[in-house]
Amino acid sequence: KKDILVMGIETSCDETAVAIVKNGTEIISNIVSSQIESHKRFGGVVPEIASRHHVEQITIVLEEALAQAGVTFADLSAIAVTEGPGLVGALLVGVQAAKAIAFAHDIPLVGVHHIAGHIYANRLVQEMKFPLLSLVVSGGHTELVYMEKHGSFEVIGETRDDAAGEAYDKVARTLSLPYPGGPHIDRLAHEGEPTLDLPRAWLEPDSYDFSFSGLKSAVINTVHNAAQRGETIAPETLAASFQASVVDVLVTKTLRAAKQYEVKQVLLAGGVAANKGLRNALEEAFTAEPIELVIPPLSLCTDNAAMIAAAGTIAYEKGKRATMSLNAQPGLDL
Ligand code: KG4
Ligand code: ZN
Repeated sequence: KKDILVMGIETSCDETAVAIVKNGTEIISNIVSSQIESHKRFGGVVPEIASRHHVEQITIVLEEALAQAGVTFADLSAIAVTEGPGLVGALLVGVQAAKAIAFAHDIPLVGVHHIAGHIYANRLVQEMKFPLLSLVVSGGHTELVYMEKHGSFEVIGETRDDAAGEAYDKVARTLSLPYPGGPHIDRLAHEGEPTLDLPRAWLEPDSYDFSFSGLKSAVINTVHNAAQRGETIAPETLAASFQASVVDVLVTKTLRAAKQYEVKQVLLAGGVAANKGLRNALEEAFTAEPIELVIPPLSLCTDNAAMIAAAGTIAYEKGKRATMSLNAQPGLDL
């Protein structure tokens, strides 16, 4: 059987990424150009700056990905591109590049949902065993996704307000830490004790939804109230207490859902999967369970194109094809 070689293109937020993946599981090349430095002084991603960076970077990253893999466009079985969700101007750069290549070289084109990509990052490290549950935690998403088979996604819970990573970044901002704040809070959390009693939004007893805005406000109020009394709370204590609350809710709900849906595997996905507190707590919670926990390496948890190629390979094998009318869909549903 001939190898399937899929190129993935990802430009939904602030990374310009192109990768080539063999048979949906093996990374042949994986190039990521990050713009974080350009957005840092604004404390978050500025959409117009993101689009411009993608335009400047896309051909360079494309050529690097081909060179690293030692292949040409003629060798590709398909082009997979993130069609949404994300920033519309950013998505458009990837979509237009993918369409241009597909048209010029007569290569099949598939559109990929960004979250499907995050989930399929796991297939690059471990075979997927169904049914499975994926906890997707990133700057824009917090979702529990149930999968009965390849390409089938059922969102059983999601955030009703802020995404987990968004809450991390906002709390970090309150503590005057640089953007993105997640890794800084994570580091501080390990230097302090979670002694502050911060809220945990469990919501309705059977709900798998999440809510982090109340927690975020509680942290901000705690800081301001202390300041009014002329006191300061150690940032390590704030970070540790905030992280304990986030991790407690994420792990408890994931474990409960995994048991209820009788899954074989739990996959961690998204940028917040880099969080050491979350990784450790999940590992601890699942050691006693007959459920396999898969946590990809950090480089595959944050935005990359290998995950888009991996998800795109499944779509390609299922016969899914996009036409030249493929468009960026900033609010695309999974
Ligand atoms: O998946 P990702 O790279 O981009 C999105 O699709 O959103 O996720 C980025 C998010 C940011 O909010 C960042 O602060 C968070 O992941 N993050 C972390 C850690 N590393 C990255 N959050 C908590 N702890 C970390 N160690
Ligand atoms: Zn992402």
